Amino acid sequence: MLKLPLPALRPAVLPVLLLALLAACVGGRGAPTDLHRAADGSLLPLPVPLVIAHRGYSGIAPENTEVAVALGADVPSEYVEIDVQMSADGGIVVMHDTTLTRTTDAPLQYPLRAPWNVADFTLEEMRALDAGTWYGRDKEPGNFAYAGEPVPDLRTILDTLRDRAGLLLEVKSPGLYPGIEAAIAAELEAAGWVEAGAPTQPLIVQSFDWESMARYAQLHPQVPVGLLGNPPTDEAIWTAVAEYADWMNPSHSRLDAELVAEIHRRGLRTSPYTVNDAARMRELLDMGVDGIITDQPTRLRQVRDAALAPQGEFALQNGELNELSGLARSLAHPGVYWGHNDSGDRPRLFAFAGDGRDLGTLELPGAGAVDWEDMASFVEDGQPKLLLADVGDNEALRPFVTLYIAAEPATAPPYSGMLPVERTLTLTYPDGPRDCEGVAVDAQAGAIYLLSKRDPRPRLYRIPLGAPEGLPLTAEFLGEVDSLPLPKGGELAAPGEITNVSPTALALNSSHALIVTLEHSYRYPRAPGQSLLEALAGTPQRIVVPEYRQIESGDFIAEGAALLIGSEGRPAAMYASAEGQ
Ligand code: G3P
Ligand code: CA
Repeated sequence: MLKLPLPALRPAVLPVLLLALLAACVGGRGAPTDLHRAADGSLLPLPVPLVIAHRGYSGIAPENTEVAVALGADVPSEYVEIDVQMSADGGIVVMHDTTLTRTTDAPLQYPLRAPWNVADFTLEEMRALDAGTWYGRDKEPGNFAYAGEPVPDLRTILDTLRDRAGLLLEVKSPGLYPGIEAAIAAELEAAGWVEAGAPTQPLIVQSFDWESMARYAQLHPQVPVGLLGNPPTDEAIWTAVAEYADWMNPSHSRLDAELVAEIHRRGLRTSPYTVNDAARMRELLDMGVDGIITDQPTRLRQVRDAALAPQGEFALQNGELNELSGLARSLAHPGVYWGHNDSGDRPRLFAFAGDGRDLGTLELPGAGAVDWEDMASFVEDGQPKLLLADVGDNEALRPFVTLYIAAEPATAPPYSGMLPVERTLTLTYPDGPRDCEGVAVDAQAGAIYLLSKRDPRPRLYRIPLGAPEGLPLTAEFLGEVDSLPLPKGGELAAPGEITNVSPTALALNSSHALIVTLEHSYRYPRAPGQSLLEALAGTPQRIVVPEYRQIESGDFIAEGAALLIGSEGRPAAMYASAEGQ
């Protein structure tokens, strides 16, 4: 049982603070709800608040069908919600209403079996019903693409979601189905979703019937339990339900910031239902809800991404990060950013939130730190990784430079302790030592790119991401970048000289490349499959950033056009551009 006292939270700091708070909850009754599956199947801490697709992705497909569930998982949603009931022969069927009339063709197939109660049909009879045609008739008139979609049983949905998304399983009207809790428990165990009372996949079981949930909690004491409906107003009831419940999930219309805080104070979390309006989603996120149940999970993801994104100018809280020379967005934990200091610091990484809050520090034992100048995040074999580039060389004297690659921590912040280096690459340049402050990884192309700083025109180099460790590898020279404006004064810089357009960071996402310079930043659109050199030959959009002491770091905030740049200084000054800027 989750018994963490949650403090009163200010809306502006809620989303990322909750990330940290929920991380601290791992190990309680509801520990597995803190996890979701990464693409490689490993368990990672959840981003919060959770995106929960209601009855599958029921905004675009017939509710509670296998196709709607798969679409919900594909968004991706962290959880997919379904409703289950019991068939006449004791099977567990996925169905919202207690009769089959609204969403199936049961009245057509079985005209003499009114009122078509779920409880009167066998599992096989229901599995053969058409649960898709009604959608084209009543929900999205004319869309009969789902005609013939069958009614699924619970096992089908468990197989569909396995290793793809969590399941929020609502037990519908259990009063009609004596023994349904045990039947569900048996099904979850048979499918391998629960072993020895504990979930092996992200799983929450919920119901409007709280007594049913108390019974279920006895069967699977470590599976998180949710209570739907209005939160208690009575102290004794709160105390009783807090013994077995982890989630209190009312209608969103009942929630306000006080009630969210009350639920948190009781050690429970809350995911209200059913919220499809973007403005209301944002209000609820600002109240500090832990998840939202929605028919529109894609919309909710967009709202959540925007809520977690940094905005405008802010300063980094951790004064030890006083010479910020590289930053990268976390690909494991949305809303978390990594940064490091310039030469003079030891090999360590700082985590911070999109509003500048300190999220801890990690040391990299065994790594050197002659002059760390940039970093990058990327996904390799399904695992989020970080690359640290010890590539600064002001005097062009280093016989070789070094790149360190480490896996991003699977646990959410706050951080302390060590981050092991996974591999170390060393390299030289074919045309002699160079000062470099821009490094980026294109994992799809299997390439690490390096952009020189003190050449009249920045020079772009590449080494393979899979390059062997050991002796220094000679980077491949790809070409010069001549799309940046001339320096102030209108003359190309002399070799070794620094100007206002000297590159101090390089970053990539799937649609853009970014060159950060000491003054402004330059964003290049990049088509899928287009080489980086080709993209950097295009006309960049100049992103005008505030005048800071020394801008040496930047990255995209996510997969859009918005970016985050940072300057050296105590505190480090940060600027996040809006998506359209
Ligand atoms: O998950 C909660 C929500 O589904 C409850 O309402 O009627 O859609 O099942 P309903
Ligand atoms: Ca439901």
